[in-house]
Amino acid sequence: MKKFSTGLSTTQKVLIPQNRLQERVSELGLEISQAYVGKDLAIVAILKGSFIFAADLLRAITIPCSIDFMGISSYAGQPGSGVVQITKDLDESIAGRNVLLVEDIIDTGLTATYLIHTLRQHQPASIDICALLDKSARRIIDVPIPYRGFEIPDVFVVGYGMDFQQQYRNLPDIAILRSNGAPKTDVIQPDQASNKSES
Ligand code: IMP
Ligand code: MG
Repeated sequence: MKKFSTGLSTTQKVLIPQNRLQERVSELGLEISQAYVGKDLAIVAILKGSFIFAADLLRAITIPCSIDFMGISSYAGQPGSGVVQITKDLDESIAGRNVLLVEDIIDTGLTATYLIHTLRQHQPASIDICALLDKSARRIIDVPIPYRGFEIPDVFVVGYGMDFQQQYRNLPDIAILRSNGAPKTDVIQPDQASNKSES
């Protein structure tokens, strides 16, 4: 049984270990820095799921940029409907700026589509998505993801900021939960998992 360094004694199957996350986030930071050089880059991170990814990504970006946060939550009883409640709006204007929307995971694509539609009303110069994870097997609406960390299979994941019922955000790795929410017990070692997910 793997004990996470967070002290959680739950057993999950590691899908993406923290060293692989750090490597990929560094690559994304470099890619973004090159793509936005000379531009007014405004990062908009979506709370809560992307907060750890955004913090790491920001430090991997080497060009001037700002960061702002939008808080969203699914309307009760309608998860996966794409109808989200904005619990925290932007603090700064994004008008005329190059917005990079930072998301933890694109699943059906409904949330990202809604957010892009909402942000476009503020008239940014451009708007693109950077998502750590892409669960493309579940896509309902096509969403272009120019900056994508990893493609993952249709499994429910937690850790590195992502939750199940507000728990597990503090796991340093990304781990799989069983579909009923119970943690998996068939633990595999991080070094075995590292080649299972590719960008
Ligand atoms: P979508 O609207 O179906 O694309 O859902 C996107 C949001 O659902 C993500 O930003 C996450 O907050 C949440 N989500 C989707 N899949 C997972 C998962 O496997 N683990 C944790 N949260 C998830
Ligand atoms: Mg999210």
